[in-house]
Amino acid sequence: DKGGWSSFMAKEITEQPEAVANTTRGRIEGSHVVIPELVELGDDVLRNIDRIVIIACGTASYAGQVGAYAIEQWARIPVEVQLSHEFRYRDPVLSDRTMVISVSQSGETMDTLMAVKYAIERGVKTISVCNTQSATIPRESDAAVYTHAGPEVAVASTKAFIAQITALYLIGLHFGRVRGTLSEADSAAAVEQFEALPEKVREAVGTHEQIAQLAHWMADTRSVLFLGRHVGFPIALEGALKLKEIAYIHAEGFAAGELKHGPIALIDHGQPVFVLVPSPRTSPLMHSKIVSNIQEIRARGARVIAVVEKGDTSVLPYADDVIRLPLADSFFEPLLQVVPLQWFALELSTVKGLDVDQPRNLAKSVTVE
Ligand code: BG6
Repeated sequence: DKGGWSSFMAKEITEQPEAVANTTRGRIEGSHVVIPELVELGDDVLRNIDRIVIIACGTASYAGQVGAYAIEQWARIPVEVQLSHEFRYRDPVLSDRTMVISVSQSGETMDTLMAVKYAIERGVKTISVCNTQSATIPRESDAAVYTHAGPEVAVASTKAFIAQITALYLIGLHFGRVRGTLSEADSAAAVEQFEALPEKVREAVGTHEQIAQLAHWMADTRSVLFLGRHVGFPIALEGALKLKEIAYIHAEGFAAGELKHGPIALIDHGQPVFVLVPSPRTSPLMHSKIVSNIQEIRARGARVIAVVEKGDTSVLPYADDVIRLPLADSFFEPLLQVVPLQWFALELSTVKGLDVDQPRNLAKSVTVE
């Protein structure tokens, strides 16, 4: 049942406020994050860890990349993200102090399952972030942190992605509390952000009309670039992946700082570039660097679509389109920024007359290696 929407993907994009609320529910106590499934694992295990490897594929790996920044910040543990299908072929350095966190919507992706099994065989503790109750990966893992986003039908992941980031943040906050690396103030601030998040995501979903217009004008676009920094970088990658998956358009995401090291050569007259602009309030340095990036690409003829927080007028002179999102702390910006990018892919797919939910050559869950 598409609930009156033209596609499951559209319906699932609109379900994101509930998805983040459901992932958070039952995991906050006062101003702290307490995940019952991790309590069961035992605090000693979490204190003993000296390194985390996140393994995932596709969209889930980008959720992993966003989560990695936050877990490092809050738990002060080095975190790396590896694609599941690359993980075991590099003969990874693992020890009994390594923790593997897998991220998978379906919990059945064979590449990820094989990577988890490889880790288990080497005595590594494993946590599964999964959206599907009792799937194989969470059953194999030492602990399962379910995302509770509800069933996701469209092949291109939307609400599961937002829920995965949410779950990884909760894990980072739980680890940080147990390990004593998270201050009371930072914990309380994050909890406050979580409480306000569903309403802000709802506002981000409200960008639909504006994005539909934009996609309508851009129906003939053959290539789109996305730029972001810090947690905005994986969102740039995700925005590009969405376009490839359902609109069959060549798209690439870049770390904005890489621009001058190569990708700027791609910028030509009319090249559309989405730029994820961090808040000037919370990230003034990153903000000013991104504004310079915008000036650089604009001077070379790019068509700039800036995703900014409401009230940030600094990009107005250089942007062709401005998408405005509610104010949020830096780590919570990606959960808002991704929403208009999801709408953009959906609307471009729609104007091209494609099947939004069932793109060619793709399956929702890939159960072969
Ligand atoms: C791909 C899907 O094949 O698998 C992506 O097309 C998805 O949308 C990826 O992100 C990983 O799937 P899962 O179920 O492990 O999160």
